[in-house]
Amino acid sequence: MLTNSWVPPSVSDSPTIETFILEGMFQAPAATGTFTSILNQIVLSSKLITGRVRRAGLADLLGHTGGTNVQGEVVQKLDVIANETLIRQLKRRGHCAGCASEELDHAILFPDATGSYLVVFDPLDGSSNIDVNISIGTIFGLFRCDRQAGPPTEASFLQRGSDLVAAGYVIYGSSTVIVLTTGRGVHGFTYDPTAGEFFLSHEDMRIPERGNTYSINEGNHARWSPEVMAWNQYIKGEGPGRPYGHRYVGTLVADAHRTLLRGGVFVYPEDTKNPRGKLRLLYEAAPMAMVFEAAGGRASTGRERILDVLPTTLHERVPLVIGSRRDVEDYEAFMRGEQPTG
Ligand code: AHG
Repeated sequence: MLTNSWVPPSVSDSPTIETFILEGMFQAPAATGTFTSILNQIVLSSKLITGRVRRAGLADLLGHTGGTNVQGEVVQKLDVIANETLIRQLKRRGHCAGCASEELDHAILFPDATGSYLVVFDPLDGSSNIDVNISIGTIFGLFRCDRQAGPPTEASFLQRGSDLVAAGYVIYGSSTVIVLTTGRGVHGFTYDPTAGEFFLSHEDMRIPERGNTYSINEGNHARWSPEVMAWNQYIKGEGPGRPYGHRYVGTLVADAHRTLLRGGVFVYPEDTKNPRGKLRLLYEAAPMAMVFEAAGGRASTGRERILDVLPTTLHERVPLVIGSRRDVEDYEAFMRGEQPTG
């Protein structure tokens, strides 16, 4: 006789992301109505973007626009859609004083806004992966802007990652997931397209102290410094707990999400082509660093804490090393010319 003791869990028993934020479960001192409203507008944007991403191949949304962005990168059609979606939603309620996007030359200020938060974002991270159906994402961070110091300007965005009041990312993968932190705990919410809502699915995410995979574009090997090469040889070499497995998607959000869940280390170092690294401090590195530190991990340039780096320009780049605390510490040891202590 077939016995079935398995009872399917009811996803809808979990709170939606809006409920979770509203109930103040983040216990963020900054969680005023304004702050909550901006987070909700980002959530709405990610629902709109996920709808476009899921139908991209059917709606003539694959491919590039023919233009390049301020970074000199080819602009994809979905880059434009994601960028405009976020800007429109953030402007709508007057709670966001301005935003800066990886896709725009300059910050956009909303002079009629009454709120005092600034939002930085990479609207569609990994956009070279769009056309080949590989996971892409959105990365975002919220800063306060000091209105007492006068109306915000582009310089108001030049804040350290340690000044972020919230950060997170959305991964458009096998499912769409938002990972969010206000500094105390990291929580993941999975999108249920039948309900049109994100439900809490990963409460209080913690990254393992050490993992067994590393993530780096090995094709850049010839451009690395001797220190990066030495670390790379070590992590691939035989030893206790080694060699590590290699995983690289080429979308930061996807590589970071796997690393957050499973442990290990993601590295995009400085090299001879990108002497200051490739990834952007404000739109990519700092928000990811906030998430990883809040989950018990570590985020570094290899030589200093990402969250301590003060940007001098909006589109500043930085080497990025994020992951399990001990794996990032091992990398930092190599950058000092030392061997890890194990
Ligand atoms: P973009 O937002 O312009 O698509 O940037 C993609 C980034 C990041 O997502 C990824 O980790 C990295 O570029 C991959 O770069 P390589 O192709 O040089 O490895």
